[in-house]
Amino acid sequence: MAEKAATTERPYRDEAHAINARDVRFDFASVPMHYIPGEVLATHIVNVMHLVLPEGERAMAQCLAEALPHIDDERLREEVQGFIGQESMHASSHEGARKHLQSIGLDVDSYVSKVAWLVDRILGGHGLTGRAGEEWLKERLGLFAGMEHFTAVIGEWLLNANILAEQGMHPAMLDLVRWHGAEEVEHRSVVFDAFQYVDGSYARRARTAILATATLLPLFIVSTAYLYKRDPSEHKGRSWIRQFVSATRRGVIPSWTVFFTEMPRYLRPSFHPSQLGSMDTALRYLAHSPAARAAEH
Ligand SMILES: [Fe+2]
Ligand SMILES: [Fe+2]
Repeated sequence: MAEKAATTERPYRDEAHAINARDVRFDFASVPMHYIPGEVLATHIVNVMHLVLPEGERAMAQCLAEALPHIDDERLREEVQGFIGQESMHASSHEGARKHLQSIGLDVDSYVSKVAWLVDRILGGHGLTGRAGEEWLKERLGLFAGMEHFTAVIGEWLLNANILAEQGMHPAMLDLVRWHGAEEVEHRSVVFDAFQYVDGSYARRARTAILATATLLPLFIVSTAYLYKRDPSEHKGRSWIRQFVSATRRGVIPSWTVFFTEMPRYLRPSFHPSQLGSMDTALRYLAHSPAARAAEH
């Protein structure tokens, strides 16, 4: 299968930037339950990242590790290895945030166990070998490439959403989501390129991307509703729907329509993730991120 893919163009080569995991450190000790002050629903929308991302990112790292033996291109192998390190770091950092919130009363352990079970059931390797194993690997690479499109788009949004700092979002949480967002922008092309290399079928790319969208939106809604309900605070402010409309209007959360508006762009046959937003903004943030800098010392 590598023979067909070896001809696939990979424009990210031009970016001449090597992907590497950063050994970040976050101190969540002083983070309150509603760490975007006065924004209960928006806080829980951010919390979805702590709740469902770790398991998904581990499954993705596992899938890319399975893809490595099928990739002969040195440069792409290097990118995939860096990607695996970055996603593993994202998973453990969000887990740290979730454990802190659990310790101050947001009890979500049973939900996390269900997500872990579901992710393993749906996206695990299932012990398949031979032709079936190869097909399943290609299918998962397609799904993850579609999901990575959304993480790159949301990552770009997080880097530019100045309103989060203006609203007084706790600096540790703000740094966590921005560092993560910046690395999503930084490695936005890796899964797509791995998929193109290992398979490259447009039909599969389109089908799996639509499936990824159809899975992510309900997962987001169900997880937010669960978090909001589990929040033990007596006062949650206005009704969740009014908070949702207000937060969307003021740009405190990204627009939910992104799940629909982004698909036509991703489905363009000539699309490549390197066409997404500014890599400079991401790298500039990573150069200044308190957690990333702490890792350097
Ligand atoms: Fe990630
Ligand atoms: Fe990612």
